[in-house]
Amino acid sequence: MNDQQTLAPDPHPGPPPERRREDGPEPRAGPLHESAREDAPVVRLEEIVKSYRRGVQTVPVLAGITFDIAAGEFLALMGPSGSGKSTLLNLIAGIDRPDSGRLIVAGTDIGRLTEQELADWRSRNIGFIFQFYNLMPVLDALENVELPLLLTGLSRRQRRERARMALDMVSLSDRLDHFPSELSGGQQQRVAIARALVTDPTLIVADEPTGDLDRESANDVLGMLERLNQQIGKTIIMVTHDQRAAQHAHAIMHLEKGELSQREELAAS
Ligand SMILES: Nc1ncnc2c1ncn2[C@@H]1O[C@H](COP(=O)(O)OP(=O)(O)OP(=O)(O)O)[C@@H](O)[C@H]1O
Ligand SMILES: [Mg+2]
Repeated sequence: MNDQQTLAPDPHPGPPPERRREDGPEPRAGPLHESAREDAPVVRLEEIVKSYRRGVQTVPVLAGITFDIAAGEFLALMGPSGSGKSTLLNLIAGIDRPDSGRLIVAGTDIGRLTEQELADWRSRNIGFIFQFYNLMPVLDALENVELPLLLTGLSRRQRRERARMALDMVSLSDRLDHFPSELSGGQQQRVAIARALVTDPTLIVADEPTGDLDRESANDVLGMLERLNQQIGKTIIMVTHDQRAAQHAHAIMHLEKGELSQREELAAS
C-alpha cells in the first residue's frame, strides 16, 4: 500500500459544483448561516437534549450536551453501551433531530432546515461511516462510491472519475468491479471510507468503524482516517469502544449518563 503517494499530492477530488453555499468568501446573509469564518468550529452543540418516546414511556438519552469541534480535529467519542453515542452522532450528522438545543454544523443551524433542506445539506457536508459498512450488495465498489454523487450535477464520466480517485485514496484501485461479497471486511470498510469521502464533505462521522474488524484491518482503517485528517485536514468524529482505536485521535470525550466528560487530550502520535 502506498498511501503517501496516493494521499499526499493534493488528492482532493475538488469541490462538486454545488458545494457548500456558506463556503464563499462572503457568507450569505441570513439566519441559517451562523458563521462561515475559517476559525469557527465545524460543530457547535448547545444544550442538546434528546429522549426517545416509546408509547407512554420516555427514555432520556442526552441531558443537555454542549461542546465544539474545531476544523481539522480528530475526536474519539467513547462511553458505555446505550450511553447515547450513536444518538449524538446521528444528531450531528442531521440524521435525527434533538428535542431541544441548538446544533450548528458546517456553519448551518441545522435545526432550522426542513427535511428536504436537511437531506440536501447532509449530502454536501457529511460523510458517514458505519460499523457494518452499509454497502449496496448489488453494486460493485466503484458504483457504491459513485452513489452519493448522483445527488450532484456531475456527469457520469466525472462521477466515475471521482469515485476512482476516492478508491485510489484507500488503495483499492485493483478492486473497482468487486461486489461487497467479494471483498474482505477491511476492504468493504475502505470502500465505505471512499464513499464517505467522495463528496468532499466538511465532516466525517464514523460509528464504530472498526467494531467488526480484526486488529490488522482495524489498523488499516484507522491509519486511513488518520491520514485523511493529517493530509487533507478532514474533521473526524469517531465513536469507538476500543481504547487503542481512540489513541489515533487528538482527544477523547466520554459520554456517560447523558453527559459528556471534559476532553482528554492525547499526545500527538
Ligand atoms: N429508536 C429508539 N427508540 C427508543 N429508544 C432508543 C432508540 N434508539 C436508541 N434508543 C435508546 O437510547 C439509548 C442510547 O442508544 P444509542 O444507540 O445512542 O447508544 P450507544 O451509546 O450508541 O450504544 P452502543 O455502544 O451499544 O452502540 C439506549 O438506551 C437505547 O436503548
Ligand atoms: Mg452505538
